[in-house]
Amino acid sequence: MESVIVGGPASTDLALSLSRLLKLPLLSVKYTEFPDGESKVTFSEKVDGSTVILVQSTYPPIDKHLMELFFLAHHMSQEGAKVHAVIPYLAYARQDKQFLPGEVVSLAVLSHLLRSAGVSRITTVDIHSAESLRLFSIPIYSASAIPSLVQYAKKNLSVTKPIIIAPDFGASKRTEAFATLYGGEYARLSKERDRVTGDVKVRQEDLDVKERDVLIVDDIISTGGTVRAAAELLRKAGAHKVFALCTHALLVGDAQERLVSAGVNEIIGTNTVPSKVSKVDVSEVIASHLRTLTE
Ligand code: R5P
Repeated sequence: MESVIVGGPASTDLALSLSRLLKLPLLSVKYTEFPDGESKVTFSEKVDGSTVILVQSTYPPIDKHLMELFFLAHHMSQEGAKVHAVIPYLAYARQDKQFLPGEVVSLAVLSHLLRSAGVSRITTVDIHSAESLRLFSIPIYSASAIPSLVQYAKKNLSVTKPIIIAPDFGASKRTEAFATLYGGEYARLSKERDRVTGDVKVRQEDLDVKERDVLIVDDIISTGGTVRAAAELLRKAGAHKVFALCTHALLVGDAQERLVSAGVNEIIGTNTVPSKVSKVDVSEVIASHLRTLTE
């Protein structure tokens, strides 16, 4: 039976784009809200027996987007569909272990909830850490947006003597992959985050960025604390232009303004989180993976 695409309210454009790329029909669903903020989902077509590619990112408001995802998945699996959730930005992925005693491993709970809601397979983009995939008992694949970010950078950023910077240890692999494809030198900063206040400090001795343009590459920019600290350090060390590239630009609160005031010339994100800075489209990256499953 033919597959269909369902676009959750967080990812309507991406769902439309996947439906065009994969030449699959887009099922129509109505999303409304009760006066107290509860989400309501109404299907106008039957979905029985099909494989459904359910596209719903989980950027803020995170818990609302998750509830919508659960409602959609549960209804469709009850109707007999096999639900493949495409969750371009997978929330809670950073709490994949206990950092301080007593902390709940949120990603483990989320994994359980997705499965209980009827999701039988997940595709995401640049999950925070590859190791966290082990918390899932259903197949999960994390596609990489790095080649698309590289393509954007090559085409659109005018840079002199570029150096690619990982703002912390966790960003190393991604940033190294970026540097290899981009063809630039690569360096890593050391980051310390206060696990209680969330405050960030970055350090790096022997870093020669004088008169050079810097591309900071990370998976997520949330409060902007990490990239801000990195940009300040790099500017002090004599960097010329500073670009911040990431897959998921959450930019909570006044993150964008604070990054600009720290000397960031341009922020580049992807449409896993739709916003003014989501300049890179990940539809094709997701579509190519989905094709491997159907061919
Ligand atoms: C952490 O390890 C991540 O890769 C990001 O660097 C971090 O989550 C970004 O968060 P924020 O923008 O709040 O510093």
